[in-house]
Amino acid sequence: MIRALLLEKTDEAVTCSLTELTDDRLPDGDVTVDIEYSTLNYKDALAITDTSPVVRSWPMVPGVDFAGTVSASSDDSIAVGDRVVLNGWDVGEQRWGGLTTRTRIDGSLLVKLPDALSTREAMAIGTAGYTAMLCVLALEDHGVTPESGPVVVTGAAGGVGSVSVSLLSGLGYDVHAVTGRPDTQGDYLRGLGAVELIDRSTLEEPGRPLARAVWAGVIDAVGGQILANLLAQVQPRGCVVACGLAASMDLPTTVAPFILRGITLVGIDSVHETTARRELAYARLATDLDRSALASMTTEIGLGEVEAAAPRFLRGEVAGRIVVDVTR
Ligand SMILES: NC(=O)c1ccc[n+]([C@@H]2O[C@H](COP(=O)([O-])OP(=O)(O)OC[C@H]3O[C@@H](n4cnc5c(N)ncnc54)[C@H](OP(=O)(O)O)[C@@H]3O)[C@@H](O)[C@H]2O)c1
Repeated sequence: MIRALLLEKTDEAVTCSLTELTDDRLPDGDVTVDIEYSTLNYKDALAITDTSPVVRSWPMVPGVDFAGTVSASSDDSIAVGDRVVLNGWDVGEQRWGGLTTRTRIDGSLLVKLPDALSTREAMAIGTAGYTAMLCVLALEDHGVTPESGPVVVTGAAGGVGSVSVSLLSGLGYDVHAVTGRPDTQGDYLRGLGAVELIDRSTLEEPGRPLARAVWAGVIDAVGGQILANLLAQVQPRGCVVACGLAASMDLPTTVAPFILRGITLVGIDSVHETTARRELAYARLATDLDRSALASMTTEIGLGEVEAAAPRFLRGEVAGRIVVDVTR
């Protein structure tokens, strides 16, 4: 039997239950994956608690990513026994996601894991870590090197932020971390390599269109006024990578940093990223991410604990990454 977390919609409400399913309930696809690990992400917590309309097809297995081993395949490029990872592509929203022991999916959406990464490590990295790597690649593409000057990461104690801080610090950057929890998460962030913490309250009020030019690069997971204020602090020709909206969808900025300092604002869409870029990201994660730092930012729970953990996630009571062992 397959064990799955299943979201079902009735006229009255969305229900979430840990259910047993048979193979004939699985969605269509040319590859069957025995899932070993998934994760709990912000989007999953929204779906499980029915806080916002993430799910677009019912019933739905939530979970925006998974890693496991192929148990059946009619895709020529994927063999039985291959270890694979999937992030995004609307799983957990439109296609069944990772919070189950088995799924069926189009092989073209899967990435083979580098030998150096276990399925558990792939999910400790998860969509948040893979997105962080895409952000670092974007900074590199725009010529930001450790010699360019300091870089800053927002939402630093969250999933994307934690992995970004660790990756950048490991690559030799001078990393500053913006956080709303400097008292409780300060040691954690310094342990990941942040040289200085910035209390996010200092960036939440509207600032000048141009401020003192400090940052060679920015990875921003929060949007809103914080992103606007950081845009005004970027060095000439610097680069800002926007990937999230944990604070706000708004961006109350001006054109001044763009036309007077020639800065670049790059967006990241991890959900629909190309396979080639995904493979590059995983290859770099396999070589560049400090495994002991990854372990320090990871908490593991079983499939049966996910429903209770989702509201805690939305209340901001969680730091780093939550891996889900779907077999327990
Ligand atoms: N573009 C993409 O492809 C992509 C992929 C993955 C995630 N995302 C987005 O990226 C964002 C971060 O994802 P995540 O998985 O890292 O989430 P997360 O683990 O919940 O972390 C978000 C962090 O943002 C900070 N934060 C929360 N509320 C805030 C507020 N009101 N103002 C300022 N900062 C706030 C907190 O950091 P501190 O505790 O340090 O303050 C929190 O830990 C989310 O918006 C997510 O949807 C986008």
